Amino acid sequence: MSNSFDFAPLLRAGLPPAAQKFTGSPKFNFVGGHGDQDQFPVDGLIAAANTALRREGRTLATYGFGIDGPQGYRGLREFLVRKLKSDAGIGCTIDEILITSGSLQALDLVNGVFLAPGDTVVIERDCYQGTLNRYARLGVNPVGIPLDGDGMRIDALSNALDDLKRRGVRPKFIYTIPTVHNPTCTILPRRPAGSAPKTGAGARRSDLRGRLLLRHHLGRQTPPALYAMSQRGGVVHIGSFSKSIGPALRVGYIVAPWELMSRILPLKQDAGSGAIEQIVLAEYCSPHFEQRVAKLRQGLRSKRDAMKEALNEQFGTAAEFDDTKGGMFLWVKLPDNVDTLKLYQPALAAGVAINPGPEWSTDPVHSKSRMRLCFASPSHDEIRQGIAALAEVCHREFGVPTRISNVRRA
Ligand SMILES: Cc1ncc(COP(=O)(O)O)c(C=O)c1O
Repeated sequence: MSNSFDFAPLLRAGLPPAAQKFTGSPKFNFVGGHGDQDQFPVDGLIAAANTALRREGRTLATYGFGIDGPQGYRGLREFLVRKLKSDAGIGCTIDEILITSGSLQALDLVNGVFLAPGDTVVIERDCYQGTLNRYARLGVNPVGIPLDGDGMRIDALSNALDDLKRRGVRPKFIYTIPTVHNPTCTILPRRPAGSAPKTGAGARRSDLRGRLLLRHHLGRQTPPALYAMSQRGGVVHIGSFSKSIGPALRVGYIVAPWELMSRILPLKQDAGSGAIEQIVLAEYCSPHFEQRVAKLRQGLRSKRDAMKEALNEQFGTAAEFDDTKGGMFLWVKLPDNVDTLKLYQPALAAGVAINPGPEWSTDPVHSKSRMRLCFASPSHDEIRQGIAALAEVCHREFGVPTRISNVRRA
């Protein structure tokens, strides 16, 4: 068959750059939010799939689970109602939950009901790359608020909102990842009602994040969700099973008051998210979720410590990072002369994949010498070897670190 047809003149303007063919995973993979394959609950999911499919499998012959409707498998939404109450203080009904294809689809749907080109949103200065890409594609202006060890700085938020108001700009919403932020892994402490800044008339505060997504992380106590604390109900809550069970399942969810849910639903035009995943998850999670999360926490804590140790040993004071209470990442600051966008390719050539800071921030100067490292997926040995390889490359390209294990480099 001829391959000569030229699609290029037909493509619409403004598409993202062409994708590269997948050529396999790097040896030391510190990117993405992959989980630990050795800890994946294969047997538990096989047993759950067997039971659930025998009981419910016939419904796969229908769109939208037959009588369960377009918002997703009822059993999974019932599990979420219980979980959201006990873990996040959220009181909601199954009608206020929509199961989505990962929280990325949830972001698209919520963006879809609120955002038009030229709109402004207020977000954390360092922010999840998938969110930043979406705003760029939509032509939306993100206003980045600096973070400290307690997440989004409320004083800076207050100033930014005042400034926007002075300029007559009304932000559509505040997007925050308050409980185990990505990439900084900070946790926003919940303050008493009244101490938070007024967001200004019409501004929406959207708690677009995943408590289940984060629930597994290292911290034991997580504060109540902003959704649970909101007095006027102007919050949307997004969650996911990607980090607590596995990202390949592609199961996330939106919690929103029905008035908003009824506007989101018509935008979900994919005839429903994958049903087998939902049925199996509901069956597996009801009895096993707590245990699974406890085990995950243990594994993550130990890998976080391994990565901190490796960074300290290989980079010494050249690598700065906070002592995180949760999450699966370290947000690492290297000396100012390091440009992590330029470190990326040589590191990859040495088998080490990193996330360069500028791809995870609204501020290219602040993030230039920062990088995000995920420690959940690589083994302890891979963490040690990968960080050593990264230090070699960084020294070759930028002259830092100058010492390793307190020995001066040649
Ligand atoms: C804040 C945030 N939102 C969305 C996602 C995408 O997750 P999902 O696999 O649920 O689509 C991630 C993944 O790490 C994330 O950290």
